[in-house]
Amino acid sequence: MKHLIIYTHLNPNSFTKAVVNEVEKISNDIGHETKIIDLYGDKFNPVLEFSDIEYSFMDGEAPTDVKHYQDKITWAEHITFVYPLWWGQMPAMLKGFIDRVFAHGYAYTYDENGPKGLLNDKSVQLIINTGNPNKTLSESGLQASMEKIIDDGVFGFCGMESKVTFFGNISLSTDEERKQHLDSVKNLVV
Ligand SMILES: Cc1cc2nc3c(=O)[nH]c(=O)nc-3n(C[C@H](O)[C@H](O)[C@H](O)COP(=O)(O)O)c2cc1C
Repeated sequence: MKHLIIYTHLNPNSFTKAVVNEVEKISNDIGHETKIIDLYGDKFNPVLEFSDIEYSFMDGEAPTDVKHYQDKITWAEHITFVYPLWWGQMPAMLKGFIDRVFAHGYAYTYDENGPKGLLNDKSVQLIINTGNPNKTLSESGLQASMEKIIDDGVFGFCGMESKVTFFGNISLSTDEERKQHLDSVKNLVV
C-alpha cells in the first residue's frame, strides 16, 4: 500500500515526532511504500493567498508548492496525520495545509446535488496528541466535536473515510505511559 504520513511539529524531541517515527517504522515493516511530509521541516506556507483562490475558483494554475503536495496525496492510498492538539484544534500549520492543498477542483467539487468529494479512493487515520486526559476531552464533548468536524467537515467532505485516535495526557504522562501509547501504534497502522 502507498502510505503517506503528514505531520506538524516544530520540535524534533516532541511526542508527536516519536509517534511519527513509530508509524513510519511499522509501515515499512509491513511492507508499505511510505512517504513523509514534515510541514515545519518543509517551511510550508500555510497562509491562503489570492493566487490560491485564482487557482481553485478562477481557472488559474496551481501554485508550485500546492501542486507538489497534491501529487503526493494523489499517489497515496492511505494517509496518516499526526499532530498535537492546540486550542482544541489542529495547529494552524496543518489547517493552512488543508486550506491550500485540499482545493476546490482537486479534493472536492460541486454538482447538481451539492458538494461532492473527489478523493474517494483514500482512507485517513488521525493521531492527535493532547495535554488533557481523554476522559476530560470526552466528557466535555470536545472529542465528539473534533471528530464531527474532522469526519464531516474535512475528510468526509472530500470523500474519504477517516478514523481518529487521541493519545491523552501527554504533557504529564510518564515514560511508561508514553511507551504504552507508542506500543499501541501497531494497532493503528493498517
Ligand atoms: C499552543 C498550545 C495549545 C494547546 N492547546 C491544548 C488544548 O486545547 N487541549 C489540550 O488537551 N492540550 C493542549 N495543548 C497541549 C498539547 O496538546 C501537548 O503539549 C501535546 O499534546 C504534547 O505533545 P508534543 O510533545 O508532541 O507537543 C496545547 C499546547 C500548546 C503549545
